[in-house]
Amino acid sequence: MNINTTMIATTTKETKGPVTIGKATKGLSGATVAPPDKSVSHRAVILGSIAEGATKVEGFLEGTDNMSTLNAFKQMGVAIDRSGSTALTSTTMASRLMIHGVGALGLSEPEDIINANNSGTTTRLLTGLLSAQPFFSVITGDASLRRRPMRRVVDPLRLMGARITGRMDGGLLPLSIEGQRLKGIEYKMPIASAQVKSALLLAGLYAEGETIVEEPAKTRDHAERMLMAFGADIKVDGLRVRITSKNKLNGCEVNPPGDISSAAFFMVGAMITPRSDLLTMFVGINPTRTGIIQILKKMGGVVIVGKEDDFTGEPVAGIRVKTSSLRGVDINAAELLPAIDEFPIICIAAAFAEGTTRIRGAGELRVKESDRIKAMGNLLTTIGISNKETDDGIVVEGAGSKTIKGGVVIDSLGDHRIAMSAAIAGLRAENGITILDPECANVSFPGFYEQLRKISGR
Ligand code: S3P
Repeated sequence: MNINTTMIATTTKETKGPVTIGKATKGLSGATVAPPDKSVSHRAVILGSIAEGATKVEGFLEGTDNMSTLNAFKQMGVAIDRSGSTALTSTTMASRLMIHGVGALGLSEPEDIINANNSGTTTRLLTGLLSAQPFFSVITGDASLRRRPMRRVVDPLRLMGARITGRMDGGLLPLSIEGQRLKGIEYKMPIASAQVKSALLLAGLYAEGETIVEEPAKTRDHAERMLMAFGADIKVDGLRVRITSKNKLNGCEVNPPGDISSAAFFMVGAMITPRSDLLTMFVGINPTRTGIIQILKKMGGVVIVGKEDDFTGEPVAGIRVKTSSLRGVDINAAELLPAIDEFPIICIAAAFAEGTTRIRGAGELRVKESDRIKAMGNLLTTIGISNKETDDGIVVEGAGSKTIKGGVVIDSLGDHRIAMSAAIAGLRAENGITILDPECANVSFPGFYEQLRKISGR
């Protein structure tokens, strides 16, 4: 593989300017680790901050999204010490946090606006938490986040008594929140969203009576698992989660597993690159997140999941993948939900599969960091892969084992998962693929390009 190193900054955390990923000359091989889980890292900071006593996070993801959450709690008076991590998942992008929890009512009013930057998780989870604090706060974000829908979280919070105002009647950031005493509700979520569920559970931690949230389909359950570990009064019964304000939270140790959504880029990269055999260690295999394994297996991918271990309530395992002859398949909404963030890289797997892949029920992808259906449709067209966007998905005509020409430029649109998907496609492009604004990968995977360089033997 040929990464244009003159365009890569010397630190692994900053990659300024366009990057060109050239065709792989060797397979992706050896053993590697994925960066710590983004969703778990957010929740660890939130719960650690409002718990009594100290919370140690061994292997916190230093991505820009997680730093937005961390900075928000610093603004609210929480002391958080950060140092190098010794976690098994330890890489340059992981750190150890010592969070000195202030207790449920110990947060102080932020003097300035909270900036969530690109992070939807920070925004939606904090909107739930801030609605119940006895102070005023304002939250905003970057241009991408300011376009993303907030009514999904604002509407149920208003039913709980929250006072939230914002552009488009609370539909868009900035949101201003006058914290209130909330009351518990029973809420049937119209869309499957772990961010909405988690926001309501955080509000429910403060609400009078019970808060019951019912999901239309099971989304990632990291919040429920961690709330249990911190001692919350929470019960999960299938798609229903119930929480009260009865118990106080107690600080504990959190050990985020490797993020399967980040590992997915290397998994697909190895499958589509000849002579690959790559092991990614300590990957989180929470069943609400393993859709990518099922989808790649359905496409004929060679995936071997090792022995399961436990990282403070989250299952982990090594995932080994080898070069595979992928074939086109139909993927429906139920199959995609546990791989919701993997849509862009699944499109790349489909691009190098034999035959047609149809993805349906992916409407939510239109309101992520970018309209990911459109972004991937354009990306595939630019690299010469025929495809058709549908309202809620995409149809991709795979190139099979053929190499694509490349020599093209892809605008990442500032979306980390689009940038990394383009990079992986570059491994199969005769003249490489150049990515604009590649450093947005730092949102979830600082050091991505450097790690890709290492596993491809350069
Ligand atoms: C997340 C939930 C998902 C996911 C996002 C992280 C979370 O978003 O796409 O990257 O940590 O709760 P939705 O809740 O919008 O589906």
